[in-house]
Amino acid sequence: MIPIYKPYLEGNETKYVNDCLESTWISSRGSYIEKFEKAVRDFVGCKYTSSCSNGTTALDLAFKALEIGEGDEVITTNFTYVASTNVILANGAKPIFVDIETETWNINPDLIESKITPNTKAIIIANIYGVLPNLKKINEICSKYNLYLIEDAAESLGAEYDGVKSGNIGTISTFSFFGNKTITTGEGGMVLTNDESLYDKIEVLKNQGNSRTQKYYHDMLGFNYRMTNIQAAIGLAQMEQIDKILEIKANIYNYYLKNLGSDIIYQKTLKNSTSSFWIVTALFESVEIKEKLIKELEKNNIETRPLFFPIDELPFYEKAEGEFISKDIYNRGICLPSFPGLKMDELDKIIQIIKKCIYG
Ligand SMILES: Cc1ncc(COP(=O)(O)O)c(C=O)c1O
Repeated sequence: MIPIYKPYLEGNETKYVNDCLESTWISSRGSYIEKFEKAVRDFVGCKYTSSCSNGTTALDLAFKALEIGEGDEVITTNFTYVASTNVILANGAKPIFVDIETETWNINPDLIESKITPNTKAIIIANIYGVLPNLKKINEICSKYNLYLIEDAAESLGAEYDGVKSGNIGTISTFSFFGNKTITTGEGGMVLTNDESLYDKIEVLKNQGNSRTQKYYHDMLGFNYRMTNIQAAIGLAQMEQIDKILEIKANIYNYYLKNLGSDIIYQKTLKNSTSSFWIVTALFESVEIKEKLIKELEKNNIETRPLFFPIDELPFYEKAEGEFISKDIYNRGICLPSFPGLKMDELDKIIQIIKKCIYG
């Protein structure tokens, strides 16, 4: 089976994990935590990084640190992984859905201003499949209306906009290090910011709200969202290979693009930005062609995944008014195998099957 994704564990992962086991530092204290946080900080170029248990808790920490809750509205799209929208509901705020752009599949900045009300507190962007939105316009809107920008960078580690790395774009940015992400810690996440007081708050919130100076005195309501030293050990080994991983992934994307063409490998990166090429997606002329192709690839032991299902159509969300292009993109698109260990003959096989299915 050629899967959609497989982690690339070709460096010091085993060595560093064994080091944790031998030293008995296997819980959430230990030297790898700070080393991993520093490695991400140095790569991204932001001032503060706080590791946590996964990308979902990272988002929750962002919301709690910014005190977004009851009565607040948060602008988002219906075309993202559900965690980045659930965090709005789970914190008692209201998601306001804006459609995506045809090119980047990210929030369409031209549709944002008409959705802003006195209750709007933040915009959340999710950098879909590693591609960044039009941040120039989004930043202008955030400044004009005094809104927080939350960057859910789970899929975009390594991407850049105007030379600024993803993870250093929002008031608070977050990463996921799930097994299918550009770098992984098994499960894991990180919160990033340049604001010291937000960072201090996040460190307290992820540690049961425990004061940073007095043990068993809790400044605020918090939970245990900590990362373990073992996870951080894997993460450090992964960060040592980040440039190589990103280069291989860019090559995979370019190979799909060269051989299938921009009518099929469709999602576009804006001129002043680069993508992390997290997952290569393909868009077909009709739902029928897409369905036929999924079956053909499956017969050949090749995994595909659907694109994100429009979130506002899930049973616990209120359907947004109007027609969204995200629905059409969901209907006609699929995710293709995009992991760094993908071999050339496997890539060629996938491409051949797609071409045969489309062109006969
Ligand atoms: C855009 C986005 N946000 C949030 C998450 C949640 O991260 P995690 O699975 O680590 O909780 C993911 C990935 O799974 C994601 O793709």
